[in-house]
Amino acid sequence: MDKFFQSYFQNEGSTSGMPDLPSGLTGKVMNSVCFNDNYPVIERSLEMHAKAKKLIPGATQTLAKGTTQHSFGVSPVFLDRGKGAIVWDIDGNEYLDYTMGVGPVVLGYCYEPVDYAISQQLTRGISFSLTHPLEVQVASLLHDIIPNAEMVRFSKTGADVTSAAVRLARAYTGRNVILCCGYHGWHDWYIATTDRTLGVPDFNKELTYTFAYNDTESLLSAIDGSVAAVIMEPATFSAPRDNFLHKVREICHQNGSLLIFDEMWTGFRLALGGAQEYFGVKADLACFSKAIANGMPLSALTGCADVMKLLEQDVFFYTTFGGETLSLAAAVATIEELRDNNIPSVLDTLGRKLKTGINKLIADIGLPYILCSGFPCRTMLNIDSNIADANILKTYIQQELIKRGILWNGFHTLSASHTQEDIQYTLEAYDDIFTQLHALVKRNELHELLRGEVIQPAFRKTTHFNSKPRR
Ligand SMILES: Cc1ncc(COP(=O)(O)O)c(C=O)c1O
Repeated sequence: MDKFFQSYFQNEGSTSGMPDLPSGLTGKVMNSVCFNDNYPVIERSLEMHAKAKKLIPGATQTLAKGTTQHSFGVSPVFLDRGKGAIVWDIDGNEYLDYTMGVGPVVLGYCYEPVDYAISQQLTRGISFSLTHPLEVQVASLLHDIIPNAEMVRFSKTGADVTSAAVRLARAYTGRNVILCCGYHGWHDWYIATTDRTLGVPDFNKELTYTFAYNDTESLLSAIDGSVAAVIMEPATFSAPRDNFLHKVREICHQNGSLLIFDEMWTGFRLALGGAQEYFGVKADLACFSKAIANGMPLSALTGCADVMKLLEQDVFFYTTFGGETLSLAAAVATIEELRDNNIPSVLDTLGRKLKTGINKLIADIGLPYILCSGFPCRTMLNIDSNIADANILKTYIQQELIKRGILWNGFHTLSASHTQEDIQYTLEAYDDIFTQLHALVKRNELHELLRGEVIQPAFRKTTHFNSKPRR
């Protein structure tokens, strides 16, 4: 093995389970989840990043995990392992994680019932030459818990199933235009609506348009007889107002368009059956991934049988790893845990305490440009960019949370492994940071205290972008 990696991957001799620290670091104190005196030492992260940059464009496979979203120079770049809601970086520092794998780890890292199911399946084989019974078992579980899941197909990523849903809707309606609201993955049909379209043929911009959440007018002005489907995240950080989702469904059906819910974040979190169960509204097709298998790569397309049956005809959606069994075994264990322990309500209770606590601190300390918003299971800190420099503020908060052993990229994505004590500790950390922030903003000194690079928005422009010209 390359000498560089030997120190990272050969753990023999390390009592902590972590690779031995390079001699230069021996004796340095590693940070943990507490009010540490200093920012964590992240030398190994920085060293690995220098190597990664030469080999991996962007040095990451997932934008949300990369250095544009984590203040480079102060935030760890590489994680090594996790247990429950705690993760350790490759320098040995410990953090309470509020990103949870960018959504998948809904139960917690190394969650025993799920890992046991994976290890049991591993002894029997991973990918097979014929269809495996687990495909039927997971389809049957989803059929039981998801309101529109008359039929189910599997794939690996969220973008796989949102793109499959779009293709199905086009086939079913014989139309081409898609209206969307939210983020739906990296494929051409969606990315054409953003400002990162290099390499995406221009014709896609004529086929996908956006509309605004909670704004029926923006949907009504865009929808017409050319629209195959409306695809949307049923909820992100705002609640639907005035029966918005029911109205969207009605507008779609009056127009002969299908309604597709992108339930990557709402699925298995908001309620076991996702947003359809939580809001009592059915979509024609719904797309799931993220939390479905506690971190194993699996996605699911569910929907009404009359639409889904087109997949038996000329709508082509097949992939080698769609029936890979470790992920399916993980999905059975994950869904059973979520169901049997009513985890969505556990997340709701924890999240309410966190959200209410943060907003009380914001009010008491007097930071009118910050608001914690969203559904309790996944909230975010909104920073009003009309009043404050949102990226600088966010970078400062992130930096100070890291010092206190909390890994955060703007969101609080909860898992079954977060505890009441974790929430209490997080509120104490926010109290400390917000108090400092208040004074620093007043004195206009925030920028000087940043120790790393300012984090960047994922897309420079996301609202009212590529909306359909009014007829
Ligand atoms: C709402 C939503 N839809 C689709 C996707 C795409 O999923 P994936 O990255 O697994 O392709 C994401 C990813 O974060 C997402 O948040």
